[in-house]
Amino acid sequence: MPRTLPWPQALLALLVLGGALLAEDDAPDVQERPRPLKAADYGVGALVPDIAFTDLDGKPAKLSDYRTARGLVIACTNASCPLCKRQGPKLARLAAAFEARGVATLFLNPTPGEDLDVVRAARKAFGLPGRYVVDSDRAFAAALRVRSTGEAFLLDATRTLVYRGAVDDQYGVGYALEAPTHRYLEQAVDALLAGKPLEVPATSAPGCVLTPAEATPVAGAPTWHAQVARIVQDRCQTCHRPGENGPFSLLRYEDAKAQAGMIRYAVEERLMPPWFAAPGGLPMANDHSLAARERDQLIAWVDAGCPEGDPKDAPTPRTFVEGWRIGTPDAIVELPNPVNVPAEGVVPYQFQLVTTDFDEDRWVEAFEIRPTAPQVVHHVLVFADYPLDHPRRSDQPRNRAGIDGYFAAMVPGQTAFRFPPGTARFIPRGTRLMFQVHYTTNGTAATDRTRLGLVFAPGRPENEIQTAGLSNTRIRIPPGAPNHQEGADRTLPVAARVFGFTPHMHVRGKAFRYEAELPGEKLRVLLDIPNYDFNWQLHYRLAEPLDLPAGTRLYATAWYDNSADNPANPDPTRRVRWGDQTYDEMLIGYVDWHPILEGDTTKGR
Ligand code: HEC
Repeated sequence: MPRTLPWPQALLALLVLGGALLAEDDAPDVQERPRPLKAADYGVGALVPDIAFTDLDGKPAKLSDYRTARGLVIACTNASCPLCKRQGPKLARLAAAFEARGVATLFLNPTPGEDLDVVRAARKAFGLPGRYVVDSDRAFAAALRVRSTGEAFLLDATRTLVYRGAVDDQYGVGYALEAPTHRYLEQAVDALLAGKPLEVPATSAPGCVLTPAEATPVAGAPTWHAQVARIVQDRCQTCHRPGENGPFSLLRYEDAKAQAGMIRYAVEERLMPPWFAAPGGLPMANDHSLAARERDQLIAWVDAGCPEGDPKDAPTPRTFVEGWRIGTPDAIVELPNPVNVPAEGVVPYQFQLVTTDFDEDRWVEAFEIRPTAPQVVHHVLVFADYPLDHPRRSDQPRNRAGIDGYFAAMVPGQTAFRFPPGTARFIPRGTRLMFQVHYTTNGTAATDRTRLGLVFAPGRPENEIQTAGLSNTRIRIPPGAPNHQEGADRTLPVAARVFGFTPHMHVRGKAFRYEAELPGEKLRVLLDIPNYDFNWQLHYRLAEPLDLPAGTRLYATAWYDNSADNPANPDPTRRVRWGDQTYDEMLIGYVDWHPILEGDTTKGR
């Protein structure tokens, strides 16, 4: 494409040139860290059309109204994309700083269909000053060829595009750094005001994929009421409804339509629903991944322009239990101190210790962990530390950095847990519980006081559920290593009935595998996680308990990506060792099990 074409013509040329060019350059790169793009291919240097719009306050305007300004930033933002939310307060600060230097900011919401009350609340919570436009006919985003909900544009006083791309590299889909390492937009404004050439005039921009302006209606395509609503009820609404951890609600047709572009992407890339076990392994009771047919239907629905269909075909809305799902707990243990979660940034893991006050030893048959601010809680792990004077103290080695004493856990969508009949978990009187809570910021400050609810068994059960950790505290991950392997193993001293697995690594974790070598047999895979995602400390609960004879050797193998290609990596130059915080690493393969006692008859109950 010749550089000299004015921009709208260049756009036309691109459209005419068709697929090949677009496919390569415009392939979604919303999950990567921002990378420089060839600026001229993205309209940098061209005149931006004088787009007319009506802002959220109902005032009509045109881009040329900003003529007198020294420059204009157009910053995309919305109320649903996780990146936009995390970035919201920062955009407000940047806009104020730019304004003081004569550069105005216009906020462009490229996700029409978001509930306008939610949009107004987000705008207010982030503190976004100045004009805010919801792109109701998608014409504004189309004129700028917006590539993601996280993109920003800088125009000079003549409406020439001088920068487009990421604001900086702090947040992405699925990762957050403590601080940005490149401040692209600020550098662009600095250069513009100093009259200097820009070092990086275009980058890719992490964020959510936009819903395309038009889609071709397809006869016989799935409709919301007939097919899609049922899939979304089953597979998404547990988390995507008000008051839960999903970043937006998916209860209504309008909600799903507004998010259609990113839904298609997240479903196709298998980011959503969060489930990372390779297909074909041992069946899991809590497998909520999409069946191939469901995935195909969601994608076909988006490609057909999200047809609503006939309300007569609609399913009964799903109902959700309000309050405790395990019934009224016999005891509630709450964080001693409320945690103030800021609007933005990265919050280090919070640790709080609670001494329980049960007057006797107890057996727990069900537990539930309920944050009071679920929207910012990404996972909770609870470890038990038996009192020093307890006769079973020696059964429960001290909580060594989370390897032993695993007691309970929650991630969004997996908050309640009932142990299989005939089994329960032991908690002696006077036990201290250590809560480890991982908070993620979402643009709006919140206060959380997570609670653990316990339902006690009437007495000692036949079998005591335990959690063992296959762990290796001597891991050493070399700087830059893209696929470093470490392992841990343990031989079963007794026959064991295994109920489930919880692999645990931090942000460099890449893949994880559990294997077993039964005496005299070949190694077999129990659980394979080819794409481990640190954000999701999922528990994998076997559909059928697995009996393993004494002498079985269990292996946990972990792979780490300490290279710069891992967008979540805070520092690829560091040699990484074992440690509590997310910039350190761990290798723990938790296994829920109990010993098989002679004459045991509980299997299959
Ligand atoms: C177990 C809870 C859970 C379930 C089930 C779930 N989601 Fe999500 N979803 C989340 C959370 C939490 C996030 C925000 C992640 C973040 O903060 O980065 C998210 C983010 C998203 C995003 C934004 C992009 C991204 O990956 O961050 C899309 C789109 C999405 N979900 C669609 C879906 C769809 C469609 C389904 C059902 C097919 C679904 N989700 C099921 C919890 C869930």
